[in-house]
Amino acid sequence: MKLDIDKIRNDFPILKQKIFGNPLIYFDNAATTQKPNEVIDIMSRLYRTQNANIHRGVHLMSQQATEAHEEARRVIAHFIGATSSDEVLFTRGTTESINLVASTLSQLMKRGDEIIISTMEHHSNIVPWQMVAERYGFVIKAIPIDNEGNMLYDEYEKLFTERTSLVSVTHVSNVLGTINDVKKITAIAHSHGVPVVIDGAQAVAHLRVDVHDLNVDFYAFSGHKLYAPTGIGVLYGKREWLNKLPPYQGGGEMIEKVTLEKTTYNTLPYKFEAGTPDFIGSVGFAQAIKYLNTNDFDALIEYEDSLLRYATEKMTQIDGLHIHGTAEKKSGVISFNIDGVHHFDLGTLLDKTGIAIRTGHHCAQPLVERLGVTGTARVSFAFYNTFEEIDIFMEKLKRCLTILKG
Ligand code: ALA
Repeated sequence: MKLDIDKIRNDFPILKQKIFGNPLIYFDNAATTQKPNEVIDIMSRLYRTQNANIHRGVHLMSQQATEAHEEARRVIAHFIGATSSDEVLFTRGTTESINLVASTLSQLMKRGDEIIISTMEHHSNIVPWQMVAERYGFVIKAIPIDNEGNMLYDEYEKLFTERTSLVSVTHVSNVLGTINDVKKITAIAHSHGVPVVIDGAQAVAHLRVDVHDLNVDFYAFSGHKLYAPTGIGVLYGKREWLNKLPPYQGGGEMIEKVTLEKTTYNTLPYKFEAGTPDFIGSVGFAQAIKYLNTNDFDALIEYEDSLLRYATEKMTQIDGLHIHGTAEKKSGVISFNIDGVHHFDLGTLLDKTGIAIRTGHHCAQPLVERLGVTGTARVSFAFYNTFEEIDIFMEKLKRCLTILKG
């Protein structure tokens, strides 16, 4: 299918915004993505016509809302290749998904057990493990990376001991853009009898993810990075693991029977979903996936890749510009520094010209330290970006550099 980018851009109302009088060029898609009309409209329609708590009411609206929420779960399960929608848990986002695994799986581990993460993790895949390590006496080890931003798989293998209990790493780095070989990571861990958690926050919107094919035990991701609403995310977990884990939070919905003395718990996935879920966010989430599929997701991914290659080529022509992350397998993120220019000043100045980029440590301080910088500027693409926007960015970037370098 040939992509009609003008039509696609029309589907995203925010792209018509002006920022300080300039047309918005939104290059901060790794932080959050924009939402198509279909997602905004369905959520607005549900709030207007079908807002009723789910799994609880005998009345029609409640039944309709329940069915829409469960259908959304099926759409998401299918999108990531899960065998059953029971393996798809709704959470608030990737961070909560990882915290869910950390807080429950840690209860099955023993003092002295080892957890392997990597140097390129977002804080959401470092801090939850440090918190349980401190509480229960676990040891955390990090897989090193090379100067191009590749994970060192030989070093990874060497980290395993008989105390290794878990591997938790990112699929795509939010700073380097590196696409890690999850199949290999998982195969190595499984050969040691160790389960694997994958942080898929930066992957699901930009790659085909099939949890079955990757053979991961857990896969965490957020709606808002996938053109869906904020505040809703997913934890995929293999059924055998989800059955083994104790519940996460207690409350309504996650129970089978409660007496004042004891509670027995609900079946999957509800055992992990205490309280009223975001039953309108879930439908918005599924609508975003339907939107991607009607536009030919594979073609969108390929187009993003061509934007990445085009921008990389243009940016490397700038004197003193250093790109962090040059792995061969890379997703649409370019982090960079320019000699003599502070990333924050550059981001602030570009903003005045209508260009939104991210600056700072990107919630990955250990990685930024490994790169030997205090922070970076970062552009990140989505399929509604254009080559023309990259040309304008290059022009404005050069103008900013003239000002900043005096
Ligand atoms: N994790 C998001 C980012 O990389 C917020 O920008």
